[in-house]
Amino acid sequence: MSDLSQIKGINARQIKLLQENGVSTAEALAMSPLNIVSDIDGLGDKTAKKLIWNARNALGMTEFISASEIDENIEYFTTGSSELNKILGGGFQTGKLTEVYGPFKSGKTNLAHTIAVTIQLPKESGGLDCAAAYIDTENTFSKDKIKRIANRFGLDEEQVLSKIYHARIYSSDHQSQMIMKAETLCKTRNVRLIVLDSLMALLRVEYVGIGSLAKRQGVLNNMIHGMSRIAETYNCAVLLTNQVATKMAGMFSANDAIGGNIVAHGCHFRVMFKTKGFSSNNSLKRRAVIVDAPDLPPEECEFYITSAGIADTDKVELPESQESDLEFEIESLYEESKVSSEAVANSADSSDVPLTNVKGIGKGTAESLKMNGITSIDDLLSAEPDGLSAKISGVSSTMVGEWQRSAKVLISP
Ligand SMILES: Nc1ncnc2c1ncn2[C@@H]1O[C@H](COP(=O)(O)OP(=O)(O)O)[C@@H](O)[C@H]1O
Ligand SMILES: [Mg+2]
Repeated sequence: MSDLSQIKGINARQIKLLQENGVSTAEALAMSPLNIVSDIDGLGDKTAKKLIWNARNALGMTEFISASEIDENIEYFTTGSSELNKILGGGFQTGKLTEVYGPFKSGKTNLAHTIAVTIQLPKESGGLDCAAAYIDTENTFSKDKIKRIANRFGLDEEQVLSKIYHARIYSSDHQSQMIMKAETLCKTRNVRLIVLDSLMALLRVEYVGIGSLAKRQGVLNNMIHGMSRIAETYNCAVLLTNQVATKMAGMFSANDAIGGNIVAHGCHFRVMFKTKGFSSNNSLKRRAVIVDAPDLPPEECEFYITSAGIADTDKVELPESQESDLEFEIESLYEESKVSSEAVANSADSSDVPLTNVKGIGKGTAESLKMNGITSIDDLLSAEPDGLSAKISGVSSTMVGEWQRSAKVLISP
């Protein structure tokens, strides 16, 4: 890495401004988009352009090189599932952005936890002997889960925890800020993996409606660019998790990841996680599909979610001493909330009755329905069973019909 002070014509004030805005090396400046640097208060268009060009000059980025001299240096580390490693071309890759999208409970957060540990493994065991940064926008990070994964891989729990730098995020602006901060960790703490779980959750609630779409995409673009640059500069792996939506401003087709083209084009690898019939049983089997990758065939594989992260089977081998600690409860997807019929009868109209009161709809299913625009009993009753079942994995149109029948009973006076 080269110091900003090595750039021709830069002064101390400009160095300070750049550093305050997360651009702390000549490489970072040289790879930053012009509009982002121009937007820094106190720099201006002309200065920004001059400094970026000078930075590129200083780094030899203004010459073509022979392809034989390209330094690829891609490294891989294990995802915890050899099948998933295989379809990813050898494991989770450094230097690139990987987007994993899928419905609620499809295993995205489990993958995030697993690789935050496996990157710490020694190289001969499938790791890179490096640390991880974990940007947590949904408050789903679990120390216990990390400990179980550490044990599974024979690593020391406390040591593993100490090498995961965690930030709980409360707004999209905070998210942008901490993405830039993560760069410092790459520089000083040997971080080679940045997890952002999840990319869109906060943006989605802060920028609602078609009117704010342009603004939201601008913020998103800067985040993706920032992470892409960090990935390349530090040969760092980046995992972005994303939700799926079926209806959003008419922009996306069924089961598309949210975020639109900016995310689709900004990520090198796009992997879809699917739940297999999880509404009908408690199976923790999942499917991963390579949706888009520059040099990988469109393959798919199966994997499992276990108490100790992503694996090839539902029985992960644990050191004997740990096994007894590993009792866990698989969350019941069918927790039917028992609301008294009185409460239902007293509610003013059907829009006040929560979906979880409908027989067969638990919390998880209600969440999946919500993601598909079904937030009330009225929405449910007006949904087309075939159409809805096609959008939610594991839900048949017969099931939707059953729900509608129960819903009708529920709201009839
Ligand atoms: N300790 C555990 N053991 C086995 N499965 C678990 C455990 N904890 C959570 N799960 C399962 O993992 C799934 C949630 O995975 P998660 O990675 O959080 O999904 P996502 O982030 O895609 O919403 C749920 O189906 C849940 O039952
Ligand atoms: Mg999650």
